[in-house]
Amino acid sequence: MHPTTSGNNRTGTATAEEGVRAMLDANERWAPLTPPDTSLSDAERTFYMVESDSVGSIPPPVTIQGMLKTGFDKLLGERPEVLMDKIGERIAFERSGTRLYDALILKYESAFQQGAVSALPVPLNASGDSVASTLQRIRTEEHQHFLMLSEVMRSLGGDPTAQTPCADVSGVASMGLMQVVTDPRTTLAQSLHAVLIAELADNAGWELLISLAQEAGKADIAEQFERAMLEEQEHLLTVKSWVSALASSPTPTVAA
Ligand SMILES: [Fe+2]
Ligand SMILES: [Fe+2]
Repeated sequence: MHPTTSGNNRTGTATAEEGVRAMLDANERWAPLTPPDTSLSDAERTFYMVESDSVGSIPPPVTIQGMLKTGFDKLLGERPEVLMDKIGERIAFERSGTRLYDALILKYESAFQQGAVSALPVPLNASGDSVASTLQRIRTEEHQHFLMLSEVMRSLGGDPTAQTPCADVSGVASMGLMQVVTDPRTTLAQSLHAVLIAELADNAGWELLISLAQEAGKADIAEQFERAMLEEQEHLLTVKSWVSALASSPTPTVAA
């Protein structure tokens, strides 16, 4: 029987049931009797892992002046490349975080126009700020973090525009988040879920960066990072409260 497009509910229900049954029958008929053996593909993937080069490398300080200014490996601990790599990662993350909030703001404005955001609570830091201005503020803070990190990278003699290995990996890992928020079919709640993942990673990333800066004896830089971390903690609490409010909203169009 072919699927119907008529308004006949009975036929439509019967067709849907038949479709489900047909899928279950096909699954029973074609599913392998034993779990598939992946040992050959595992061996192939392992071979490539062993043979492949790494994702990238850490660029040395861009100028001789930078090299002299930092003393590079002497002033940044035993493994200066780790700190440089992780600063590069946060630069990439804060830059894409800014774009993520740009996309979220657009999604919010669209949901607002459709009257679908009344369930959002006042932000936790509430000084009477609206949701729209809170989103704008967080977006500005992400951008400020990006600028601050770029300046720190320069002060260490590094190149803030360089794609370090961890920056590269972080960019690839974040691609799905941006795809969720910019997909025209996703709801505000679904977009906020993607942003929540970003904020969780953001908080963990700053935490690690602070300890790396402290280990490298860069107390002044660690202090700047701690100030950014406080803002990130507030971002996380705010986004989490919005996700939770929309999930328990009685309005199906909001959380659907
Ligand atoms: Fe951030
Ligand atoms: Fe953030």
